[in-house]
Amino acid sequence: MSLTVLRSAAEVRSAVARARRSGASVGLVPTMGALHAGHGSLIDRARQEAGCVVVSIFVNPIQFDRRDDFEHYPRLLETDLAFCGARGADLVFVPAEEEMYAGPQRAFVEVTGLTEQLCGRFRPGHFRGVATVVLKLLNIVQPDRAYFGQKDAQQLAVIRRMVRDLNVPVEIIAAPTVREPDGLALSSRNRRLTPEQRAAAPVLYRALQLAERLSAEGAEHPERVKAEALGVLAGQPLARVEYLEIVDTEELQPVSRITGPVLVAGAVWFGSIRLIDNVLCAPGR
Ligand code: PAJ
Repeated sequence: MSLTVLRSAAEVRSAVARARRSGASVGLVPTMGALHAGHGSLIDRARQEAGCVVVSIFVNPIQFDRRDDFEHYPRLLETDLAFCGARGADLVFVPAEEEMYAGPQRAFVEVTGLTEQLCGRFRPGHFRGVATVVLKLLNIVQPDRAYFGQKDAQQLAVIRRMVRDLNVPVEIIAAPTVREPDGLALSSRNRRLTPEQRAAAPVLYRALQLAERLSAEGAEHPERVKAEALGVLAGQPLARVEYLEIVDTEELQPVSRITGPVLVAGAVWFGSIRLIDNVLCAPGR
């Protein structure tokens, strides 16, 4: 199949129905565009598992808590479409804002508890906007499977919980974080870093790797692990830490002891660019 670009939900429904009639299963990769190898790994995975691969590209206004971030978000449709074609996607859904939000939106998805920690503390309304748009996309495409990156660990946990608690008939597949050779997690925001900030940015992953190593070696006290990781970040004057937390993997609540698998997640500002990253740690490994 060659790449088909669709602008309306109605077109998506009929194209997906046609694929289903020919016996194909359907995989959805939701994105906001400015596609890179991280998104590519999700498309590749979907390509392996589904007969019909749908990529959505939509910069979702209701998940941005800062207007300048929304306005500066890179929009590179032509290159994105070429990228999707080269990765073997079948359908690309590129709705206009009016297609997704025709009138004033009155219904929203709220995933409580999990959204109050980590990024949620600093980005009010962000995960409500994410959960709402993802449910809308799942309802439009009705895929068998939808693919998300571990890079956005809180987003992944929120979507898994939404699907579970609202009985959404889809399987959520998580894929590992794709990194630059120096460890920096790929992100569309990386391109906005100055060369100095770009050179400094891998410090976030280095700090997380230290936390990972300490917990693998049996360090049980999250405060100690956190202090060591924060020490690494403090050594980089261009890095301004928003948070670094050690939480459980299900409810995303801070742990008092590291006795099972934990998520170590952080957000760090480099100038006006906010980067996030995380590692999953298992004690005593
Ligand atoms: P976006 O930032 O474009 O990311 C789309 C998907 O790519 C997400 O599942 C994200 O976790 C994944 N991703 C991003 N960087 C990655 C990397 N370095 N390695 C692996 N996967 C990576 O996340 C969103 O868009 C939006 O919030 C969305 C879910 C589309 C809802 O609007």
